[in-house]
Amino acid sequence: VSSAYETDWTGRWHGRARSVERPGSTDEVGALLRRCSAAGVPVTIAGGRTGLVGGAVPPEDGSALVLSTERLTRVEPVDGDEGSVVVGAGVTLAALQRLAREEDLEYAVDLAARDSATVGGMVATDAGGLHVPAYGTTRAQVLGLEAVLADGSVVSRLHGLAKEALGTDWAQLLVGSEGTLAVVTAARLRLRPRPRTLCVGIVGVAGVAEALAVLGVARGLPGLRAVEYAEAPVVSRTHVLVEVAGPVELLAPLDPVAAADDAAGRAALWAEREAATETVARLAAERGDPVHKLDVALPLGRLADFRRAVDAVVPGDDLRVWGHLAEGNLHVNLWGDRDAAVLRLVAEHGGVISSEHGVGRAKVDALPLSRTAAEIALLRRLKQALDPQGLLNPGVLLP
Ligand code: MLT
Ligand code: ZN
Repeated sequence: VSSAYETDWTGRWHGRARSVERPGSTDEVGALLRRCSAAGVPVTIAGGRTGLVGGAVPPEDGSALVLSTERLTRVEPVDGDEGSVVVGAGVTLAALQRLAREEDLEYAVDLAARDSATVGGMVATDAGGLHVPAYGTTRAQVLGLEAVLADGSVVSRLHGLAKEALGTDWAQLLVGSEGTLAVVTAARLRLRPRPRTLCVGIVGVAGVAEALAVLGVARGLPGLRAVEYAEAPVVSRTHVLVEVAGPVELLAPLDPVAAADDAAGRAALWAEREAATETVARLAAERGDPVHKLDVALPLGRLADFRRAVDAVVPGDDLRVWGHLAEGNLHVNLWGDRDAAVLRLVAEHGGVISSEHGVGRAKVDALPLSRTAAEIALLRRLKQALDPQGLLNPGVLLP
């Protein structure tokens, strides 16, 4: 067994796999799950393994096999009339973005792990990323899914009609279910017209309160695509980054310290922010201590108070903060045993303990801070109905 499947990207979550299986088609996934359900063997589902909450790491007892979706890489021709494409779960985000670009279209979800993150994992976690203010999360891109249930049966709705009214939308039920309800094997995803011009601006700020004032101005800009916040020292100066579809002059109301609308200039402005995860990973390696990654969202009206409260709980040396400002989503990266204290602050400020990374194994114990007992009971009933033996992604999501 390759150890790559037994440890997560951060090095914080470890498990033991009984074996690693790499089915090459939906039928092979079905046959594998039929065998597993007959034998009562749990299955951990692994995509690009760039999720940051241990969701693709098998349990420590070695009972589960890892089902890697990496060979599910089918790609159907882009449907230019509908603006959509069917791709296998193992297709990477970068490959999807490339094939959209070849048709002068764009896949709207983008994130720094694009070279590794896969469609299946992004659907299973409802990945958010950088362009949520304009296009929503992965959920908003999913026009249909193909999936294999725990008993090996295949369900497919990939026809791609933009609108249908046929009762409960099972495909949307699977989005964000973190592999606990079914194995997503393919998706029909919405593609959008590619913007002709893009510009990026950086606005220096002292902290969250000032950043929110910048957000207020940014919201008035036509074509707004991204509003990111990053604090020194994970970036060289604390700033808000704004991306807009249009010429750089549109950014004038923000009075940016730097701005660009050519590809190289834009990439340079994004570089520090995009590298934040790797910068912190390097620091963690130097410290010999995996970073604890919290991914929280607060109501915008409470965000500055929350950020100040974090300073009272975590010393600056042990803290790195950045995030997706428009959604009130902060990535609170910390060292030391302070996760519970910060997550309590999140709840006290009316926030949620996971905004885009998911619950995985990392946040299972904290789930009751953001879900009521009645909600958790409902999730358990759904799990029981679809996976009565509890074989799919054991230890993930549900306490
Ligand atoms: C990000 O926005 O940088 C990603 O969610 C990854 C991370 O939080 O490390
Ligand atoms: Zn993020």
